Amino acid sequence: MSEQPPPHIARLIPRLELTGTERILELGAAPGVAVAEIGPLLTGDGHVTALDRSAVGVRRIRERNQALVDAGRLTVVEQDLTTLAPEPPEQYDLIFASNVNVFWTHPRKANLDALAALLKPGGRLRLFYGYGPGDVAGRGRDTGSLVAATLSAGDALTAVTVDGAGAPLEISAVRR
Ligand SMILES: C[S@@+](CC[C@H](N)C(=O)[O-])C[C@H]1O[C@@H](n2cnc3c(N)ncnc32)[C@H](O)[C@@H]1O
Repeated sequence: MSEQPPPHIARLIPRLELTGTERILELGAAPGVAVAEIGPLLTGDGHVTALDRSAVGVRRIRERNQALVDAGRLTVVEQDLTTLAPEPPEQYDLIFASNVNVFWTHPRKANLDALAALLKPGGRLRLFYGYGPGDVAGRGRDTGSLVAATLSAGDALTAVTVDGAGAPLEISAVRR
């Protein structure tokens, strides 16, 4: 029997607008529930890399998604996104994250240039915040504006938009 994803994950999956053939990177992917939802949508060369800095989190991603690893659809990486190298070994069509707060708490640490370099030209970055209607990380702050300012600070990303209408809050950008 398949497990129901938490509501914030169930809501963000359709907003990724996947065709299924994308090379995808999820940041802060533990415990792997979004990956478990994306896996069955993948087709052709579709692949997801799940990155998290937590050793326990990475173990949970693997345990939950071993079949995807075995099928060659999932790579799991234990790394802090603030340490991503500036010259990436591969590039992605889509990078996304849910409730990874470094983009508004420590914008200078967010390593945006390295992150943007991981996107193919025209590739999409989507950052989601909150767990349900009216529940947004950084309550009392304008999280959307803070994250949008982080994404706009470098030259590599364009078309930065904030969609606060739906839950979770979504901030998106496109690699030039
Ligand atoms: C609040 S949890 C959110 C988990 C899941 N994405 C969700 O929305 O339900 C944040 C996750 O991001 C990971 N994380 C936070 N900062 C990170 C960083 N700098 N690099 C990599 N992973 C990070 C944490 O280890 C944790 O698994």
